[in-house]
Amino acid sequence: DEGLHPPSHPWYHKDPLHTFDHAAIRRGYQVYREVCSACHSLDRIAWRNLIDVSHSEDEVKALAEEVEYEDGPDDEGEMFQRPGKPSDYMPKPYPNEEAARAGNAGALPPDLSLIVKARHGGADYVFALLTGYVDAPAGVEVREGLNYNPYFPGGAIAMARVLFDGLVEYEDGTPATTSQMARDVTTFLAWAAEPEHDDRKKMGMKATIILSTLTLLTVYIKRFKWAPLK
Ligand code: HEM
Repeated sequence: DEGLHPPSHPWYHKDPLHTFDHAAIRRGYQVYREVCSACHSLDRIAWRNLIDVSHSEDEVKALAEEVEYEDGPDDEGEMFQRPGKPSDYMPKPYPNEEAARAGNAGALPPDLSLIVKARHGGADYVFALLTGYVDAPAGVEVREGLNYNPYFPGGAIAMARVLFDGLVEYEDGTPATTSQMARDVTTFLAWAAEPEHDDRKKMGMKATIILSTLTLLTVYIKRFKWAPLK
């Protein structure tokens, strides 16, 4: 059972001429931190990755410092706790898979770093999943502990609906509707899966501009030089 095909949305970053919507990445990080990070890790992203993407360097230092990391061993061979640094990776909600499953009735919340790339339907799928919780249609039995979501393959998912209107308070004043939060956190996860996306597009634009200019110049020079011979 494949799951309902997600509707496709006009994601800003999907436009060939657009970089990511960075205000959305910033709001989406807030949703990840306040909601998703309770259960999902984001192993491939370090604090420093947020610098000049969604946050300033000082903001990132402050965010990292709010988290305690285990380090060591020190001179006496002891492990110790210290505040986070920009080079640290995002903290994990559970120490290991066993603990993660124990906290989620046996199901494993997947790492979200590459989820937008890993799942068929990408950003559209993640958005549809987060906003797609509905009552199971008549005749469909959903096992205790599972939730009906037509976009999830099989229709019964261990993750309950997590986004509800007004759940977070955005510092930029954007109303935190369910769909706004879903859109923002999906944009954040699309960035996390492809942090080099903006550089790639900017390089592409530069290459296109330079090569077109050179082409036009070549045509002009050729015409100009050959003109007296015609
Ligand atoms: C699965 C996203 C919050 C627990 C998933 C999946 C995604 C996702 C994309 C994968 C679905 C698939 O396999 O195709 C998110 C986002 C969240 C969020 C973006 C925040 C907005 C949470 C929270 C919990 C949770 C707070 C725990 C209370 C789980 C579990 C699964 C899961 C247990 C595995 C479901 C299964 O395999 O049946 N989530 N999640 N998630 N999530 Fe979340």
